[in-house]
Amino acid sequence: MSGSGTTSDYQCFQSYLEPLCGIRFGDDKAYLIKSRLQGIMRECGAVSLRQLVEHLKSGRPAGLRVRVVDAMTTNETSWFRDEHPYKALSEVVFKDFSKLGKKARIWSAACSSGQEPYSISMLVEEFRRTQLGGASLDAELIATDISATILAEARKAEYSETQLRRGLSKEFRQRFFVSHGRGEKICSAVRNRIRFRDLNLLHPYGVVGKVDVIFCRNILIYFSRERKCDILERMHRVLNRGGYLFLGSTEVMPEGVSNYRSERLGRAQVYRPL
Ligand SMILES: C[S@@+](CC[C@H](N)C(=O)[O-])C[C@H]1O[C@@H](n2cnc3c(N)ncnc32)[C@H](O)[C@@H]1O
Repeated sequence: MSGSGTTSDYQCFQSYLEPLCGIRFGDDKAYLIKSRLQGIMRECGAVSLRQLVEHLKSGRPAGLRVRVVDAMTTNETSWFRDEHPYKALSEVVFKDFSKLGKKARIWSAACSSGQEPYSISMLVEEFRRTQLGGASLDAELIATDISATILAEARKAEYSETQLRRGLSKEFRQRFFVSHGRGEKICSAVRNRIRFRDLNLLHPYGVVGKVDVIFCRNILIYFSRERKCDILERMHRVLNRGGYLFLGSTEVMPEGVSNYRSERLGRAQVYRPL
């Protein structure tokens, strides 16, 4: 890409994308964006990003916006990603809920292809099986993402050998997966406590209801500070008192959000609502 005309086409696309889904790309990412959108642009006959934006604004062809958002999102994920949050969840949070005899409502706020909520649900099963803390545990999950395509994958709960190798222990694989085609599918006990829903984090959280735990991991990094603050303020409203917010391992509470306190749970960093 070269020339000032093309640069402003790129800026035009950025100005359309950011308010739509919060994702920002630096000025050095023009080439990456164009390569991700090449196929879509060819199909709808757009010769520039500016023309693509015109199509997007006109709503034609149908489904274009969904495809563009899908192409712009990064769905990188794995089972029990970073380990510590999951350890904290089963060793501290689940233990407390089980002692109180209270149902835990958990929100996986950018769940991608499902590894995050299914990892949590496997831990619930494991907790119940081993009865850590001497009492049982009741939990339900809501898992949301902006991408309808990735949510369809998550709902299917079928994973390839390559996906299964990323972070899953042999023991959990044997216990919670059944053979399915060329890959494996998660057992119904783990699937059944999760509801998957479409949700753009820029929009209201009514569909979520009140929750005790939020996993909002590896998504805020893509957003501006203003968006992060707005999202975290609104998450505060759905998080029950005494609840827990887990961010990604490279993410921190931005300056300007003052209604959480930071706490260590083992080796995990969590945020608790004030
Ligand atoms: C990098 S993945 C993180 C998955 C998982 N939380 C983890 O840590 O492994 C980011 C996810 O955020 C989703 N996403 C991007 N923008 C979003 C938005 N505005 N609202 C909700 N989800 C969004 C993407 O579709 C993608 O599945």
